[in-house]
Amino acid sequence: MHYSSALPMSPDSIRRIGILTGGGDCPGLNAVIRVVAKTAMLQFGIEVIGIEDGFQGLIENRLRPLSFRDVSGILTRGGTILGSNNRCNPKRYCTSMAADGSPVFSDVTPTCIETIRKNKIDALIVIGGDGTMSCAAPLVEAGINVIGIPKTIDNDLFGTEITFGFLTAVATATEALDRLHSTADSHHRVMVCEVMGRNAGWIALTSGVASGSDVILIPEIPYEEDAIAEYVKQRMSGGPGFAIVVVAEGAKPLGGAQSVARIDPTSPDPIRLGGIGQRVADMIAAKTKAEVRMTSLGHILRGGMPIAADRILATNFGYHAVSILMEGATGRLVVRENNVFSDVDLLVSAGRQRLIPTNHALITAARALGTSFGDRLGHTHGGVGPSSVI
Ligand code: F6P
Repeated sequence: MHYSSALPMSPDSIRRIGILTGGGDCPGLNAVIRVVAKTAMLQFGIEVIGIEDGFQGLIENRLRPLSFRDVSGILTRGGTILGSNNRCNPKRYCTSMAADGSPVFSDVTPTCIETIRKNKIDALIVIGGDGTMSCAAPLVEAGINVIGIPKTIDNDLFGTEITFGFLTAVATATEALDRLHSTADSHHRVMVCEVMGRNAGWIALTSGVASGSDVILIPEIPYEEDAIAEYVKQRMSGGPGFAIVVVAEGAKPLGGAQSVARIDPTSPDPIRLGGIGQRVADMIAAKTKAEVRMTSLGHILRGGMPIAADRILATNFGYHAVSILMEGATGRLVVRENNVFSDVDLLVSAGRQRLIPTNHALITAARALGTSFGDRLGHTHGGVGPSSVI
């Protein structure tokens, strides 16, 4: 369907911008809202309208003006003062339930455009991951001026080497894994820890390496049960007598499937992963006879204050978004590539995930010091791939 829009596109005509946070919350959202709103108000005299609960607020016309006061003192706050939603895609919006209980979808993009027009919003700042950017894509195609800012603890948005929220999640996961070391060591146990990340293993890889975990299982490298069992047995009998295993929620056995916790058909990304940690723990217990315990960090990784690096990243992304908007950019996603802030076509990144290349420098380094990725590949010299993570 083609929608039409008569919104002003010239930067001079931008008087009022809307801002929304979409998808799962993550540390640093408020830091972005703060810099976008303050820069818009102070440097350009622009009014800023907060849209509540992501695209839901656009559909239901729930918006509120943000004052300087509203966005002061929020830099360190977790979550988002605007509210968010990871179950609302205007293109495929659940309007009712059929008699058999299945959702009935309609395209409510025109309602969103109407809200934008009615509230005289000249441009939208959309903060989110790949799901949120794909929700924003029909608005861009309709001529709405959208600038995206990359958010997600998963660090898996295509087009940018880093998303804000990721580094805080890694710091939280690393601290948890460090703490699990004490019990593993004292009780001579295998401690398995499941971390979020969807189909990408960025959180597991980086927190696993940062905590010196022994086995790191990521979706990009399907694991072999016997390879893990043999490795763990060796550590239990011939080595330190304990083992730490970090498992990405999207990890899967070679030739097997991911563990799905639930399916939400109303969500832009309906599959919710979870349960692989327990599967791996049970398998290790059965094959090695070691005492095994499992901990799943879940939403703990999304909560709390952003660490300093994420506050800085969020501030840079938000500032860059307002700057390019006022230079005339439309339909762009701000990104960082090789440590430089720039922007790419939002439509190219929308809905695309960035997985870890299996020759990533951090994987090669971890293999060199004896870390297992649950496969039978040891350390290989040379062929070291890209390294940009943090
Ligand atoms: O994308 C962020 C994320 O936390 C993923 O790591 C996880 O798979 C998913 O969201 C969980 O979603 P929900 O909050 O709907 O359970």
